[in-house]
Amino acid sequence: MTNKYKGRSYKSKTPKLAAGVYVDESAVLVGDIEVEEDSSVWPLVAARGDVNFIKIGKRTNVQDGSVLHLTRSSASNPDGYPLIIGDDVTVGHKVMLHGCQLGNRILVGMGAIVMDNVVVEDDVIIGGGALVPPNKRLESGYLYVGSPVKQARPLNEQEIAFLKTSAQNYVELKDDYLSELD
Ligand SMILES: CC(C)(COP(=O)(O)OP(=O)(O)OC[C@H]1O[C@@H](n2cnc3c(N)ncnc32)[C@H](O)[C@@H]1OP(=O)(O)O)[C@@H](O)C(=O)NCCC(=O)NCCS
Repeated sequence: MTNKYKGRSYKSKTPKLAAGVYVDESAVLVGDIEVEEDSSVWPLVAARGDVNFIKIGKRTNVQDGSVLHLTRSSASNPDGYPLIIGDDVTVGHKVMLHGCQLGNRILVGMGAIVMDNVVVEDDVIIGGGALVPPNKRLESGYLYVGSPVKQARPLNEQEIAFLKTSAQNYVELKDDYLSELD
């Protein structure tokens, strides 16, 4: 299965896509972006790795219409805020991720906004439409909802198991899409 997608380069950096990655042809990936094995990027995603970098881990899916960006370095913040997404993460439709760090096995609900310097620990669900303000840390094992987001309740065992299932469902879906390209 071959991924035919070619990202756009910026200042001689071009997106690097690992084996088994699927990127829809309508998505725009620019610059310093790395996508690890078996992840997928769906229609109309805009990801701009220009003034810092974006890293997307393994078996992670970024669903339709999501926007990924970051923050440049400055005198007071020499590293800026890159965008780092871990493994087995589901980024729902029309999510905005900006200069934040997501761990592993996370679901970011549809339309959520996650702002600069937020850290989301492993095994977290962020509800649809949530706003996560800058510099927040979301604790492992909890559901967060609202605008601004609040810790709602601990996740139960089925919900924690579902985080991996959701990622796996998207691995299977992107394999179907990749097979259509061959
Ligand atoms: C957050 C979510 C997981 C909670 O589902 P749930 O188990 O049905 O929620 P609960 O029954 O624990 O709800 C607790 C309360 O939060 C409210 N609530 C549920 N989702 C909410 C959300 N996204 N934002 C704000 N409040 C929410 C419920 O109405 C309920 O309020 P009440 O106690 O006043 O009646 C779900 O609503 C959601 O947003 N899922 C995201 C799905 C998604 O976007 N997937 C990616 C695309 S495939």
